[in-house]
Amino acid sequence: MAVRIVREDGDEILRKRSKEVEVVDDKIRELLDDMVETLHKYNGVGLAAPQVGILKRVIVIDLYDDKGVKKLVNPKIVKQKGEQEVSEGCLSFPNQFAKIVRPNYVIVEALNENGEKVKIKGEGLLAQVLAHEIDHLDGILFIDKIIPGTLEYVTPDDEDEKE
Ligand code: NI
Repeated sequence: MAVRIVREDGDEILRKRSKEVEVVDDKIRELLDDMVETLHKYNGVGLAAPQVGILKRVIVIDLYDDKGVKKLVNPKIVKQKGEQEVSEGCLSFPNQFAKIVRPNYVIVEALNENGEKVKIKGEGLLAQVLAHEIDHLDGILFIDKIIPGTLEYVTPDDEDEKE
């Protein structure tokens, strides 16, 4: 496993559409494992493959709860319900946060790391993160959807001052 470099705002790969994975093989499993390691290194809750420079429909999510890490291939939202206004950031936009409206409930179909079909029901934070990461696969970034005037830059120094 290895930590991969996270592409940041301005890198045009973040705007490209990712390709479907045809076969979930060892290379995809290695990518998934590296993405989990990268996610944990940056204390993120979700990461999409284009953020590490790979245009494949692969995402990982960890809400640090008892559900464990989710490794999803070709994830697709097949149903969504309701709305929630949330504060959101992205590992590709360090220290930036904004308010955004996300679905409150989603059903996602995907393949797991063994290539088996899985269905995930996400509510609240999980729905938010699934929607955010799946957007990445189509080159859509959270800054495209922010409620105008809500973007904030939080530098680590500001954080210190608050404490
Ligand atoms: Ni993101």
